[in-house]
Amino acid sequence: MRMSRMFFFGLMLCAVGVIANSQTQSGADAPHLQKQGNATQMVVDGKPFLILSGELTNNAATSLESLEPIWPKLVAANLNAVIVGVSWAQFEPEEGKFNYSQVDGVIAKARENNLRIVFIWFGCWKNGTSSFPPYWVKKDYERFPRIQIGEGKTVSSSGPVELLSTLSDATRDADARAFAALMSHIKEVDGAQHTVLMMQVENEVGVLRDTRDRSPAANRAFAGPVPAELMKYLESHKESLIPEFRQVWAANGYKKSGTWEEVFGPGKPATLEIPIQTTVSILGPLDHENSWQKLHWASDEIFMAWNYARFLEDVVKAGKDAYNIPMYVNAWLQQPNHAWPGTYPCGGPLPQVHDIWRAGAPDIDILAPDLYLEYFDSVCERFTRNGNPLFIPETSTNPANLMVAVGKYNTIGFSPFGVDGGRPIPVELATAYGLLNQLSPIILAHQGTDTITAARMNQGDQPKQVKLGNYTLTLTYIGRNTHIPPQAKGGVETPAQFAAANAEPPLEAAAIFISTGPDEYYFVGRGMRVDFTPNTPGPQNVGLGDVQEGKFVDGKWVVTRQIEGDDDAQGEILTLRNSILRVKLYRFP
Ligand code: DGJ
Repeated sequence: MRMSRMFFFGLMLCAVGVIANSQTQSGADAPHLQKQGNATQMVVDGKPFLILSGELTNNAATSLESLEPIWPKLVAANLNAVIVGVSWAQFEPEEGKFNYSQVDGVIAKARENNLRIVFIWFGCWKNGTSSFPPYWVKKDYERFPRIQIGEGKTVSSSGPVELLSTLSDATRDADARAFAALMSHIKEVDGAQHTVLMMQVENEVGVLRDTRDRSPAANRAFAGPVPAELMKYLESHKESLIPEFRQVWAANGYKKSGTWEEVFGPGKPATLEIPIQTTVSILGPLDHENSWQKLHWASDEIFMAWNYARFLEDVVKAGKDAYNIPMYVNAWLQQPNHAWPGTYPCGGPLPQVHDIWRAGAPDIDILAPDLYLEYFDSVCERFTRNGNPLFIPETSTNPANLMVAVGKYNTIGFSPFGVDGGRPIPVELATAYGLLNQLSPIILAHQGTDTITAARMNQGDQPKQVKLGNYTLTLTYIGRNTHIPPQAKGGVETPAQFAAANAEPPLEAAAIFISTGPDEYYFVGRGMRVDFTPNTPGPQNVGLGDVQEGKFVDGKWVVTRQIEGDDDAQGEILTLRNSILRVKLYRFP
């Protein structure tokens, strides 16, 4: 449904009047999520906030001293937030004795640098395994049991597995107690200032080197009935279940009760070893982009998803009871060479088991992808089904992905991994972050409505048409030639400049388009030419009435260049110039 212009006018007055990352105000409400149309947004101190972040390497914050030179780099790269790990081992070196110094130090430095924080709770699991629990947990394998794989072993042909079992109340309670202590401390030191926006709980959970836990407790649970509360959830959400999951339930006759294998089909035989990395599954090559392992030991993956979800629901609930801010879990996605469950952590919050996670862990706000795959857009599609909000805690630094995630998939935030280490933010992403930071009040006022969209284009793509507001935009790839190609009338690049620009590797073009009035747009992005065709009655010719390149300073639009003459081929060609453009159109017969 289209929002009324008056509503927008009101939104804009509120939104443009704020500086997106100011921490000078504090509000009574803790950071929280709020729906706007089909988007979910992060709200901080009463205003929506677009998280333009980076994730530090896992142990970066275990020493405040070694983090010292990193802060200015984050600021220089235009980040407004940073994702930082908290190690359980460092936080609770002795049972019941908590060390708050790292967390306090990180919060203080973030404030000094006007950055917000998302903390990762590295508790029981990190990339499937259990490397972050304290020594007192690791060494006590009787109180804190590990999973078993194969036929009750801890070693497969691909190596041993050191992974805490979800089927232990003692483990769950220890993790939940520590997490609650962390959240209650964050509330104490940050409940008014809201530097900490959100928590990631654990990291990429799931069973590795087998499809499920085969410890005695797990085998007993697997042989027992599917819990009634899960069956009830599936019944009541039958029509909206994720299609690839529903297919599995349908294939077994939509049974309303039974053991896991009766309801969801056979699990993997314990004796069958999974190959380490292969692109071919037992059922042949997979279409990873679009499908799940067709009925491929689905019951094992569903069983594990339920057990991780139940465990983490209790941890999250303990944390939220202490301090209620948004919390998410992240998924290690199935990679093209991960054909068998267990080569990727089996039971993690992958799209095929989102319904299980929703049923088992209603207090988890977001199921998030760690998105390094080339088919970025289709992963965003799969992670925004059934209203799951999109947040991308780990990714690469491609600015085109940023534009599409923000403008098309309404992401709450974007965050390349390893920004303090071997993968610093490149200038191209820093530039894009700078632009989006400035435009964020307008972006956020439009997210979730039909007045904003984004597109990406690559060399060789045919022109694309995008209907937005009162016009259809025709987008043509021009790559690095952000000025006018010399063959165009009045082009400003010489043939030599044009050739030089084209000598560089082809650039992926991407932009966000926002319709802000009947004849007005804001554009941010690069590498495309935009032409306009009216889609309302009236004169059919469209002129570039007033084109300004500019920026927002204290919420006010400041023109940095008027675009006329050679800059728009005498009013005939509009190109995106890796800047923010405000475009007013007119029509003539
Ligand atoms: C994904 C994990 O979640 C991160 O902690 C880190 O290990 C990266 N992979 C490394 O690429």
